[in-house]
Amino acid sequence: MSKIHLKIYLEQQRKRVNEAIHRYLPRPEGPAAPVIEAMHYSIAAGGKRVRPILMMAGCQAVGGQPEKIMPAACAMECVHTYSLIHDDLPAMDNDDLRRGKPTCHKVFGEAMAILAGDGLLTLAFELMAHPDLSSAASHLRQVEATRVFAKAAGHAGMVGGQTADILNENTEITPETLNFIHSRKTGALIRASVEMGAILGGGTKKQIDALASYGEALGLCFQVIDDILDVVGDETKLGKPVGSDERNRKSTYPALFGIEEARRRAEELRDMAVTTLQDFGHEAEPLRALACYIVDRDR
Ligand code: IPE
Ligand code: IPE
Ligand code: MG
Ligand code: MG
Ligand code: MG
Repeated sequence: MSKIHLKIYLEQQRKRVNEAIHRYLPRPEGPAAPVIEAMHYSIAAGGKRVRPILMMAGCQAVGGQPEKIMPAACAMECVHTYSLIHDDLPAMDNDDLRRGKPTCHKVFGEAMAILAGDGLLTLAFELMAHPDLSSAASHLRQVEATRVFAKAAGHAGMVGGQTADILNENTEITPETLNFIHSRKTGALIRASVEMGAILGGGTKKQIDALASYGEALGLCFQVIDDILDVVGDETKLGKPVGSDERNRKSTYPALFGIEEARRRAEELRDMAVTTLQDFGHEAEPLRALACYIVDRDR
């Protein structure tokens, strides 16, 4: 897929996700309206929608119909957005800018931001049981995708990684611990996105395992680039502060290895991800292009 085709593909998929996610979000009415408004605010603020796009690309790679798994793709974006809202809280990274806008707690206060995250997390699992999804995949596959999702979001995945991230501020850590943090706080949801796409798209065990390996390598790669952009990125393009990691004395790839080595490692992980796709045909072209996009991105 050429750069221009990838650009069009990304724009189309982003548009589809944005339309669907607004349909699935509740209307801000009744006594709970403020928390629903906060949920809308953080979702509507923007975001690249990389995880839902990866899920749909995973579905396509196994010959499934990506548009049919939209409830699951939106559910993933809900969990990701919740993780960002909580990540920005004063008790966590204490950041004021996200997706080019003031962070959720800056606008709605800490209590509403915590609750908006909780609301998005819970909505995600309501979406995983949505009738639209039942008509796309067998109930067995729907349950299996939900299990993979819950595991990736919880203590064994994102929550566990965020825990280690916070506990290792101000400390010198080994590369093994750094990989533990990165592969969980960010890698787990990215891996699960592709894996869930393969499960819901009707993939064989072999295909699902291959796509999970692709997601594993790409997920780690994604956070290495995120760390690099926190040092050399442009705040206006990123829509979030640069230098947040240094301020919080975070353990990152550039801090441990330097920028050049971190970039080399990201490229190596991209190549590993693409190699796992060798048994797939042209249906996996979006996944191949997405791997390159993730390394080349500036936001
Ligand atoms: C940022 O994720 C947080 C990480 C897990 C590294 P993204 O870079 O995908 O953020 P959005 O969704 O585009 O805002
Ligand atoms: C956060 O990693 C990963 C999450 C689970 C949200 P970062 O703290 O590096 O993410 P950014 O840079 O704030 O987006
Ligand atoms: Mg963080
Ligand atoms: Mg952060
Ligand atoms: Mg970061």
